[in-house]
Amino acid sequence: MPTKVAIFASGSGSNAENIINYFAQNETIKICLVLSNRSDAFVLERAKKYQIPSAVLGKKDIEEGSKLIEMLNFYDIDFIVLAGFLLKIPEYLINMYPNRIVNIHPALLPNYGGKGMYGHFVHEAVVAARETESGISVHFVNSNYDEGDIIFQAKCPVLPFDTPDDVAAKVHELEYIHFPQVIEQVIRTL
Ligand code: GAR
Repeated sequence: MPTKVAIFASGSGSNAENIINYFAQNETIKICLVLSNRSDAFVLERAKKYQIPSAVLGKKDIEEGSKLIEMLNFYDIDFIVLAGFLLKIPEYLINMYPNRIVNIHPALLPNYGGKGMYGHFVHEAVVAARETESGISVHFVNSNYDEGDIIFQAKCPVLPFDTPDDVAAKVHELEYIHFPQVIEQVIRTL
């Protein structure tokens, strides 16, 4: 039986698409569902393009749980990947998937994590603080934002003249290279 993976994403979904491509020919790891909390998220178009089933559930439904649990059971999901998903993961889901939910954060945690630190806000804070490096962190998800055990980090330089957009581009590059491989390694050790 393959390991069946759901990707949760709130926005563009370029990481989701990269992950879908990476596992497209994989017989043991299958991307079976894309879930978004926003009906206008571009990730839904990407899922359609690859004929991956997708669904939208709002914050209330995700917090309440019954629809999401039904959906995860229907697709027989074993593992959840957060790829730019901006809602807090409720306790019941963490208990249902112990060490089976991973998130990518666009900075070197524990720095620049926590509530409100996502996407461009992270890169703006990194540049404002004149950091000389940034990077990515892949971590298990627990009930606090960005605080679960770190599985993997990779760094990139931040130059004095880099804008937040420049940092975002370097970080995205690291995400595309490493995130699918890290997901594969974590699933192999399940
Ligand atoms: C990614 O850079 C991801 O690390 C970040 O959102 C971006 C989503 O881009 N996640 C967070 O900030 C979570 N706190 P994408 O939609 O193009 O994959």
